[in-house]
Amino acid sequence: MTRTVYLNGDYMPETEAKVSIFDRGFLMADGVYEVTSVLDGKLIDFAGHVKRLERSLSELDMKKPACFDDLLAVHRELVARNNLVEGLIYLQITRGSDGDRDFAFPDPETTEPTVVLFTQSKPGLAHSTQSKTGVKIISIEDIRWGRRDIKTVQLLYPSMGKMMAKKAGCDDAWLVEDGYVTEGTSNNAYIIKGGRIITRQLSNDILHGITRAAVLRFAREAQMEVEERSFTIEEAQGAEEAFTTSASGFVMPVVEVDGVALGDGTPGPVARRLREIYLEESLKAAI
Ligand code: PDD
Repeated sequence: MTRTVYLNGDYMPETEAKVSIFDRGFLMADGVYEVTSVLDGKLIDFAGHVKRLERSLSELDMKKPACFDDLLAVHRELVARNNLVEGLIYLQITRGSDGDRDFAFPDPETTEPTVVLFTQSKPGLAHSTQSKTGVKIISIEDIRWGRRDIKTVQLLYPSMGKMMAKKAGCDDAWLVEDGYVTEGTSNNAYIIKGGRIITRQLSNDILHGITRAAVLRFAREAQMEVEERSFTIEEAQGAEEAFTTSASGFVMPVVEVDGVALGDGTPGPVARRLREIYLEESLKAAI
C-alpha cells in the first residue's frame, strides 16, 4: 500500500515526495528526528517528543519550521490518512538546501528547514515476540560524537552496531565508553541488582529518552528503587535482569549480554512488570 507522507506542508503519496540532492540532511547529516509510537491509533508521549525536538533544534541553531506548532495535527492527520492503528511516526527536520554544498550553514532567513514525516505500520508492536523472548546483546565500543543528547540523524554507527550484533547472532548492541555502558544503539540501557533499577545518569553522553523518563517515573510511583549511575558490562552480566527502553521497543527485556545468560535466560519479573505498567499508563495518557 502506498503511504501518504508529509513533506514541507503538503500531504502526498510516498512516491511523489522528493527532496533536493543539496539538502543538508543528505549531504551533512545536518538534521534531527523523533520517533513517536502509535497504539490504538493514538500518540504515545507526544508532548515529550516535541519538547526534545525543540531542544535538539535549538542546540544546533536550527530554526523551527513554520509547521512546528501544528505538529500534533500533522501527526494525527497521518494516522488518519494511513489508517495507522499500531506503529510508529518518524519525523525529520533538516537545515534544508540553499542549492549548493557548503560547510557553512545557509542563512536561515532565506533557507527553510526540510520537514518530513512518515508512518510505519507495526501490527503487534505492543505484544511483540521479542518482548516475550527477550533480546540478546553484544557490547561494542562507543565511538559516536560527544553530543548524543541531541537526536541527530547521524545514525551510521548505530546501524553498524546493529549489523555487528546480527553477525554475532544477537539482536542489538550496547555501547561502552571508558569501561562503562552509555546506552544501546537505539535505546537506553538498564540492569536490575538487588531489586534496584540501575541506569546511566543523564548527560551529553546519552540520549535523554522519553520512554526512560516515563518508565523511571512509573517505577518510582510503584515504590521501586532507582539508581542513576554508570555500570559496566561485567556488572550487567552479574545482574538479575536487564532491559532497554525506547519509543519503538517500550520496555524490552535483555536475556543475554556478551554470551552470558542473565538469571534463567528469560525475561525477568521487573522488566515484564515495567513493560506492563508502561503500556497501561501510556495508553491511558495517549492522545
Ligand atoms: N531511538 N538512545 C538512543 C541512541 C536512541 O536512538 C533512542 C531512540 C533512545 C530512546 O529514546 P526514546 O525513549 O525517546 O525513544 C535512546 C529511536 C526509537 C529510533 O532511532 O528509532
